Amino acid sequence: MEWKSEYSLGIPKVDEEHAKFLRLISNLESAIELNVGPQIVLVALAQLKRFAKDHFEAEEVVMRVHGYKQMAEHVEAHRNFIKQMDEIEQRTLNNLQGREPMLDYLRVWFTEHLFGADREFAESMLEARQG
Ligand SMILES: [Fe+2]
Ligand SMILES: [Fe+2]
Repeated sequence: MEWKSEYSLGIPKVDEEHAKFLRLISNLESAIELNVGPQIVLVALAQLKRFAKDHFEAEEVVMRVHGYKQMAEHVEAHRNFIKQMDEIEQRTLNNLQGREPMLDYLRVWFTEHLFGADREFAESMLEARQG
């Protein structure tokens, strides 16, 4: 999965973070697909999770400051992503199968979230700046 210009939401800091987010998802995918062993998968998971949490928090701070109306829904979507990461982590630690559909979930989540909730959020922030 690679960054494409159509992923840009018009706020450079957010775009940079999303590009990094995507790179970390790709790293995790490679670690699982190449079957490099649980240690490396766990490191890739930890990196993605740490970055995702920071990124979500940064978005949520801006939402709070602006009294963003769709905040509760958006925060819920962020929480679901973290839950799914925790589930992949558990499966990795316990050597369980079934991580591939979860990776699909992460990929689909990322693009749907970006083109849905994040785009709405970015548009509303850009409008607020102009107004
Ligand atoms: Fe985001
Ligand atoms: Fe978001």
